[in-house]
Amino acid sequence: MTAPDCGARRPSYSKRLGVSAAVQVIHQINACRKAVLDLKLNGTLGLVPTMGALHAGHLSLVHNARRQCDHVAVTIFVNPTQFAPHEDFASYPQTLEADVELCRAAGVALVFAPTAADMYPGSEQTTVQVHGLTDGLCGPWRPGHFDGVATVVAKLFHILPADAAFFGEKDYQQLQVIRQMVRDLNFPVRVVACPTVREPDGLAMSSRNAYLTLPQRRQAVSLSRTLFTALECVRRGERTVSDLVERMRADIQAAGPCTIEYIEAVDAESLRPLAVIDCRARLCLAVRIGPCRLIDNVAVDGTTASN
Ligand code: PAJ
Repeated sequence: MTAPDCGARRPSYSKRLGVSAAVQVIHQINACRKAVLDLKLNGTLGLVPTMGALHAGHLSLVHNARRQCDHVAVTIFVNPTQFAPHEDFASYPQTLEADVELCRAAGVALVFAPTAADMYPGSEQTTVQVHGLTDGLCGPWRPGHFDGVATVVAKLFHILPADAAFFGEKDYQQLQVIRQMVRDLNFPVRVVACPTVREPDGLAMSSRNAYLTLPQRRQAVSLSRTLFTALECVRRGERTVSDLVERMRADIQAAGPCTIEYIEAVDAESLRPLAVIDCRARLCLAVRIGPCRLIDNVAVDGTTASN
């Protein structure tokens, strides 16, 4: 079954009036299922899964969902299974009250914020694993991470069976993993990719940017700057990945102390690493600055003639 195109549907009564009813905040799975059924009785539902600490990047997903669907549900759940033991699960910013207010102002109908005990009662024996796409990029650096993401998103798709689900290109590998899972497991949901929202200086917005000191924050702009410089080089006809990556590495290292996990060009669909950019591709990087692991990527097209 193909999910209906939310954009083609008539907006609900409240949306036509431009009135956003109060947002419902629900913590329990069964209550959430019921609220979702009620919403779907009078319109289409767009789902925006998040881990909270909402910023303009998350809100762009909500705005997209509002444009395409009658009702929007946001999930806020810091999912323990996608963090490795040494990662920042315990310190991940939790700002539920502010998040709910942002959702209310953005016209969200339902916020689902479950507890970890409800999502993972301890008896579970099933996980979802997407192979291949998780072999490279962040995969080897974050073992088990994408299993945690795929499993929790599958659970959320079952608890909130939406018509469309909105994900950011900021986490490009995650987006591809979820698209693949949806195809492989026949989830009747349309996955919508939303462009990366950036700070005025180019840094991709992320809840983790809050961990950066001022000098680290200034240094972090080197990531997007070098990606956009490389994009210009590809537009001008450069195709050899090793040359591009060497210059990007030098740019990032010149900006200050950091650990570069990877800088790679990959096929935009399969995420296969490229030596020559001869297709629709993605330049991706992961760099640690201070306490923060930052990722970013841009689309590059090796199929068009240079100008
Ligand atoms: P989180 O990091 O909170 O991100 C939620 C969604 O917001 C993801 O789809 C992410 O790609 C998108 N997003 C984050 N920063 C963005 C930016 N600057 N511009 C555009 N979109 C942005 O990603 C997760 O949570 C989790 O892994 C989740 C999918 C919720 C599963 O737990």
